[in-house]
Amino acid sequence: MSHTERLPRTRTYLMCPPEHFTVEYAINPWMDTTVPVDPALALKQWQLLKDTLTDLGHTVHVLEPRPDLPDMVYAANGAFSVDGKVYGARFAYPQRAAEAAAHRHFYVSGSWEFTDPEHVNEGEGDFAYLPGAYGGLILAGHGFRTEPVAHTEAQEVLGRPVISLQLVDPAYYHLDTALAALDDRNVTYFPEAFSPASQRVLAQLFPDAVIADRADAEAFGLNLVSDGRHVVLNTEATAMGEKVRAAGYTPVHVELGELKRGGGSVKCAVAELRP
Ligand code: ARG
Repeated sequence: MSHTERLPRTRTYLMCPPEHFTVEYAINPWMDTTVPVDPALALKQWQLLKDTLTDLGHTVHVLEPRPDLPDMVYAANGAFSVDGKVYGARFAYPQRAAEAAAHRHFYVSGSWEFTDPEHVNEGEGDFAYLPGAYGGLILAGHGFRTEPVAHTEAQEVLGRPVISLQLVDPAYYHLDTALAALDDRNVTYFPEAFSPASQRVLAQLFPDAVIADRADAEAFGLNLVSDGRHVVLNTEATAMGEKVRAAGYTPVHVELGELKRGGGSVKCAVAELRP
């Protein structure tokens, strides 16, 4: 099968090093407080992910980690930006609440138009943006963290249509554990993580989507970062790598085993900045 050449677009990202990463509370099914994490290994793996993104030509900004916020490495949850506008996060669990202010500080110190949210939402964990789909489309997840009313709020703040999708499997509690943008107009997703109605919506909007299976989702293969050509995903997700390769993308695997102990992988650790 032949594909039109997949063209990368240079991106800007925000990441936060896991210097104080631990699993000391459990707010998703992947977190096990009885198994210690290896902080040095987590940091080494994170550095390699950052180097991979910069080697691909992207810019990575770094947020200062705070010792009292062990989940701060999952930088995707701190906000959601589209066209220079930023919709701030409001975390569902008190343990992570203070992360929102750290992200807010980053944006208000720059040339972003920042809006404080009224409703609970976990930033890019539950929001994805496809600039080339229907002139610019936001996909939004609810069911575990982000409240549906935050989808309406995001649409008003960002001025782009928001498609609400219901997540139904607690293992896939954020949209970015079950769906990812592969480029400006196409996605990959694990259908069973969504309600039957939301599966229909996705099938209607994205007839060419790359369909992932349960094993791909379990390996955090959907938790990927793509620049439109290079798809960065963790080493465990080998089958997912082959699926995106068959669709004409280039998989780039990185070892990120320690971050899975907190219930996240590549995408969770990377927020895209869209000026
Ligand atoms: N331990 C974090 C939490 O449960 C993991 C967040 C993962 N981030 C993501 N974008 N899916 O909140």
